[in-house]
Amino acid sequence: MENNAEKMEKIVSLCKRRGFVFQGSEIYGGLAGVFDYGPNGVELLNNIKKAWWKANVYDKENYFGIDSGMFKHPKVWEASGHTSGFSDPLAECRECNTRIRVDKELERVGVTADEKMSEAEINQLFDSVRDKIACPKCGQKNFTPAKAFNLLVKSNLGDFTSEGTDPVYLPGEACQGIYLNYKNILDSMSPKLPFGIVQIGKAFRNEISPRNFLFRTRELEQADTQLFVKPNENKDAYEQVKQDRWNWYLSIGIKEENLQWKQHDNLVFYASDAWDIMYNFPSLGFDELEGVHDRTNYDLTQHMEFSGVDQRYTDGETGEKYIPWILETSVGLGRLFLAVISDAYHEEEMDGSTRVVLKLHKDLAPYRVAVSPLLKNKPELVEKAREVFVALKKEFGNVAWDDNGNVGKRYRRQDEIGTPYCIVIDFDTLGEENPAAKDTVTVRHRDTGEQERVAISELTSYLR
Ligand code: GAP
Repeated sequence: MENNAEKMEKIVSLCKRRGFVFQGSEIYGGLAGVFDYGPNGVELLNNIKKAWWKANVYDKENYFGIDSGMFKHPKVWEASGHTSGFSDPLAECRECNTRIRVDKELERVGVTADEKMSEAEINQLFDSVRDKIACPKCGQKNFTPAKAFNLLVKSNLGDFTSEGTDPVYLPGEACQGIYLNYKNILDSMSPKLPFGIVQIGKAFRNEISPRNFLFRTRELEQADTQLFVKPNENKDAYEQVKQDRWNWYLSIGIKEENLQWKQHDNLVFYASDAWDIMYNFPSLGFDELEGVHDRTNYDLTQHMEFSGVDQRYTDGETGEKYIPWILETSVGLGRLFLAVISDAYHEEEMDGSTRVVLKLHKDLAPYRVAVSPLLKNKPELVEKAREVFVALKKEFGNVAWDDNGNVGKRYRRQDEIGTPYCIVIDFDTLGEENPAAKDTVTVRHRDTGEQERVAISELTSYLR
């Protein structure tokens, strides 16, 4: 299928129809840039997180997981540069007040720009192509000049005066919690360089134009790893980190042809190198999925200066003290969820009609298996099916009970959810018509539609 807007619409509709993702606050008309995960969505999301955590904590040595508080001291965002520099260029339509993100509009008309450019640089580019950029709402081309709009979201935590001075911000990026706990990890876990700290955490950004479903949201979750290395010992480690991240996407079933690397043209002043892993998103084409950044010693140096607390590492062998360099990986889980669903989404002919199927990796699918009685009005079939269901649920947890409609409809429903196997308990299971088949069930495979008989006693090992 074409990687186009139509595919994105189909995915959004599937996500709603099958309980994956809903618009936030839908009954009030929705809240832009916020989404809620439904029963199947939260299972898929949790399985993605589990796979990510396994790869970045359990399968590694010297990597430590944390979960930091969302709110942070206001000085954190000064030290990180977010209060002064975390902005996007915004222009407003003078006719209808619609706001646009100018760097993205420039990109759309083939002009390279990014959020790191100064206001003056952006406006120079904007002025050169104003005749090509129309308001997405009213179609006019009458915009104000671009202004830098800070993306941090303020809260009134601890402010009982309502004066709003020195606000406590919601996190603009999750990784600051890692930098703030680097010293605690040194003191409590005594790791030796190189070592990693990882976290999955929420971030909030006042995005000017949240769009493309889960791709650009105002509330997001980031899965971050920060590898601390000796100064100037970054190059080989950076290549390894890049390779590991690429391989991880393949290991969860993402098709390699839908992935690309892109090096940043315009590095922030402190970075030594930066690459994005791009995914071929429906309706967008290749766009950023994950950032892999070589950040030198910037973050810890800034926090040492602003907090006055020594952030240096003492080398156990030489006694030398220095600030480690940091190699960061950061992926938005919403974008990752969208990439996983898009990659798994297929429409294909089966048994004379078109089916929609999510060919999700078995470890990511919301349910490992669905169990059904052939007929729901035959108590003996239901009883046997319940026995199998309860036993498998005890073993795997994520097992679906599905007795709605006929078996064909159940298969199609489970295909849309991505359930790798469907088990049907029929009269053969009871041994009524074919004694040799007693205590066996039909197992139907999602990807091929093929069916086979498996003994109930072997189901657990079979499904593993
Ligand atoms: N700590 C580094 C950092 O935050 P970033 O490139 O701003 O870097 C990292 O964000 C990742 O977070 C991106 O590659 C993307 O996957 C995700 N992300 C960023 N902004 C997002 C948004 N508004 N909505 C969804 N995901 C977003």
